[in-house]
Amino acid sequence: MTDWYNEDLAYIHDVGYRDYALKSMPGILEILQHDNISTGLIIDLGCGSGLSTEILDRNGYQVLGIDISGAMIEIAKTRVSAAEFRVESLFTAEIPPCAAVISIGECLNYLFDANSDAILDALFHRIYNALPIGGTFIFDAVIPGQVRPGEIVKSFTEGQDWIVLLEKQEDLEQQILTRRIITLRQVGDLYRRTDEVHRQRLFNAQLLSEALGKIGFQVEMRDRYGQFSLPPARVAFIARKPTGIM
Ligand SMILES: C[S@@+](CC[C@H](N)C(=O)[O-])C[C@H]1O[C@@H](n2cnc3c(N)ncnc32)[C@H](O)[C@@H]1O
Repeated sequence: MTDWYNEDLAYIHDVGYRDYALKSMPGILEILQHDNISTGLIIDLGCGSGLSTEILDRNGYQVLGIDISGAMIEIAKTRVSAAEFRVESLFTAEIPPCAAVISIGECLNYLFDANSDAILDALFHRIYNALPIGGTFIFDAVIPGQVRPGEIVKSFTEGQDWIVLLEKQEDLEQQILTRRIITLRQVGDLYRRTDEVHRQRLFNAQLLSEALGKIGFQVEMRDRYGQFSLPPARVAFIARKPTGIM
């Protein structure tokens, strides 16, 4: 068991924060179709509760979902019985040969376990080597700008049987976004409280694009997946392993 996305936050993310994945997927399917990837294995890094995995499965792909949160994977397994799931860090996971890799919802930013330029670079290499020529790696990442420098933003969101209290701030010197998350989930007549602190690296999109380019990817950066405009301070990357025909 990890300290992040434990049972209650995993449940709340699944029921209350599903829009990001659900609205991203039509645009991601369009990219896959555009790149002539209509069958084969797709690896869903940071698959969470399997919302994107399920859509890939329904569209005829084989899917391997990887997430560091056991509670998220428990939900994912009940959602998509045909997919394979692994509880492990995407930063150290073996990436088997596949048609495409996706990672939705800023999974590469998290500092739950070791995350550095060298670790990211090694992951990009593993993904590049796992993809066939013409294969595609699609992901989105957080960049600075969700919170004004020096500001601490507090907010809350509520659902039928849960409340999330959120406090976030950016440290631009360290390039880190910190989110303090308090969840209250109804259990019988009472509400159970849990606390999590999520720290994320804030990327420089241009440097990330250059790192992918050095490995051999052709990189496109977008502010949307299809019709879905990403929330502020997020960038989508479409990194293609070139066919050699220019
Ligand atoms: C914002 S959620 C997005 C989940 C899912 N992709 C979605 O869009 O619904 C971020 C996910 O990244 C996962 N994650 C964060 N760091 C990870 C790591 N090092 N390895 C694997 N998963 C990680 C979290 O456990 C969480 O499920």
